[in-house]
Amino acid sequence: MSHLFNVYPLYDIEPVRAQGSYLWDSIGDRYLDLYGGHAVISVGHTHPRYVGALTEQLNRIAFYSNSVRVSLQEELAEKLGAASGYPDYALFLCNSGAEANENALKLASFHNGRTQVVAFRKSFHGRTARAVAATDNPSIVAPVNYSKHVSFLPFNDPEAARAGISEETCAVIVEGIQGVGGIQVASDAFLRALRQRCDETGAVLILDSVQCGYGRSGKFFSHQFSGIDPDLMTTAKGMGNGFPIGGVLISPKFKAAYGMLGTTFGGNHLACTAAIAVLDIMRDENLVENAARVGEYLMNGIRQIGGYKDLRGRGLMIGIEYDFPVEGLRNSLLFEHRMFTGVAGKHTIRLLPSLALGVQEADLFLEALAKEVRVVS
Ligand SMILES: Cc1ncc(COP(=O)(O)O)c(C=O)c1O
Repeated sequence: MSHLFNVYPLYDIEPVRAQGSYLWDSIGDRYLDLYGGHAVISVGHTHPRYVGALTEQLNRIAFYSNSVRVSLQEELAEKLGAASGYPDYALFLCNSGAEANENALKLASFHNGRTQVVAFRKSFHGRTARAVAATDNPSIVAPVNYSKHVSFLPFNDPEAARAGISEETCAVIVEGIQGVGGIQVASDAFLRALRQRCDETGAVLILDSVQCGYGRSGKFFSHQFSGIDPDLMTTAKGMGNGFPIGGVLISPKFKAAYGMLGTTFGGNHLACTAAIAVLDIMRDENLVENAARVGEYLMNGIRQIGGYKDLRGRGLMIGIEYDFPVEGLRNSLLFEHRMFTGVAGKHTIRLLPSLALGVQEADLFLEALAKEVRVVS
């Protein structure tokens, strides 16, 4: 009998080794990883530079608290600012995406003293108190999380945004590309309307970039396609390539005060080392450009195969929606072709591979998909 609290439906597969875009299970079978452990594996599994940096750091010092100087945090802030195109934004480090959003909402409220949060239909912001209250899925919002301070507007509706954001609004939190919501790309007009309305009302604009950020879209942040600058950006997932770390990038207009935010583990030596290695590898191996290029290649291949109802996404964040439930298709990809994919809802396959995915691996997926779509249709 399992002694784990049983909240995850599991595949009966145990990866015990991984390299690049591949996983090996306990009986030695190899799998192509087009899911990246839920958009987490950014530079590829067990990248030698990443492993080397972490091993070396572990042998030196793994942890001390935020009561002393950790210069790795400063190095990370500088490198993240440069890589993302936000060199004048400050960085607050924490441990996960939910925590990043929680801190962003707190910062917004400290900043303008307001309480009302605007979020959007089909949003997912994590499972902590206010992050889950701003998540449009009542089944994961416990009564203790429910908040009358949060209202939901339709996604990609600039008019509704203009009407729904007011001088009462503390913060507007939005994903640049909705992940759990089915790979819905925020339109330029929508993001620009949010920016404009936040400027008019003094509301804080938070771009939850936990899933769509860190190069996945083919730009460092997906909202950079729309030419807007948020007040706060939250990151996690790909930031540590599997080592837990999250962060909030904070516009210079926010003033820090001792004690206003804090965490025991956030910004620890190992997490910073992992995140610095990720940024160094992304830069030296041009992984943002690779995500754009291989993403485009995959999209074109999927278009040629056809048989879908809708194809959405940017870079290596791709949703293929079918007019039938995709469970059978995913199972065939997993058990016959040995390929991990993700899902959103019942009808959409989600691809969230490493940003280092090669054209060869993309071809393997396209071949398998073509075969399976032919079987289904
Ligand atoms: C857009 C978005 N925000 C926040 C989160 C929560 O991140 P975490 O699970 O690290 O708390 C997720 C996780 O899937 C996410 O996709």
